Amino acid sequence: MQLIIKDNYKELSKEAAKIVIEQIKSKPNSVIGFATGDTPLGLYKELIKAHKNGLDFSQIITFNLDEYLGLPDSHGQSYNYYMWDKLFNHINIKKENVNIPDGTAFDPEKFCEEYEAKIKKSGGIDLQILGIGRNGHIGFNESGSKFNSRTRIVNLTKQTRKDNAKFFEDINNVPVQAITMGISTILKSKKIILLANGKEKAENIRKLMNESKTEKFPASALKDHPNTIILVDKDAASLLD
Ligand code: F6R
Repeated sequence: MQLIIKDNYKELSKEAAKIVIEQIKSKPNSVIGFATGDTPLGLYKELIKAHKNGLDFSQIITFNLDEYLGLPDSHGQSYNYYMWDKLFNHINIKKENVNIPDGTAFDPEKFCEEYEAKIKKSGGIDLQILGIGRNGHIGFNESGSKFNSRTRIVNLTKQTRKDNAKFFEDINNVPVQAITMGISTILKSKKIILLANGKEKAENIRKLMNESKTEKFPASALKDHPNTIILVDKDAASLLD
């Protein structure tokens, strides 16, 4: 893992955008794995700017990490809605090239198998963007997820539901399950960037950089990956030596 520390969130977002833009310029039909949440919002703004300045997204293929089970695409808190609202509606991406887990799949288990197969068929993910949850989760792979896990249905922990309650009116409205790419699915990506900003992520970044691999702390699986960048701001790096 390579660690890059930037002064602030804006610089972090610009650096992340630089990596994504280079990827797309060097391979216009890149397969990109996207994440939702607060952390990549600055990156998405930078990508929209890059598009306004001429960057072509028409050939990229995307796979999102996860989606709440039970939420339709049109739900304001679905990750599908988020991706179109925050990024896809503002760039020239082709709808047929966008893949986001379907929270309302008739047979979610079969859907997970097909999602995994589709990633493989596309040639695999060239660049995966990740955030990190307060409990160290990546995607919705909560503490205890197997490092060899594949795309599947998972139960969300109380902590994750509490953290995400800010987006719903009431914690009881936060779905209890989700579809997520597995840890082994993520690790197959050719390149990974994990973004983290703010003091509340500092302890996780310390653990990730300084402690050994354990399934109790899902992000630690990245330690085995040959091409991962941990891109953080000074606050998230504040507990590192
Ligand atoms: C989102 C995802 C999650 C988030 C993580 C951090 O698709 O898979 O793992 O990346 O929960 O969320 P934020 O960025 O809101 O702190």
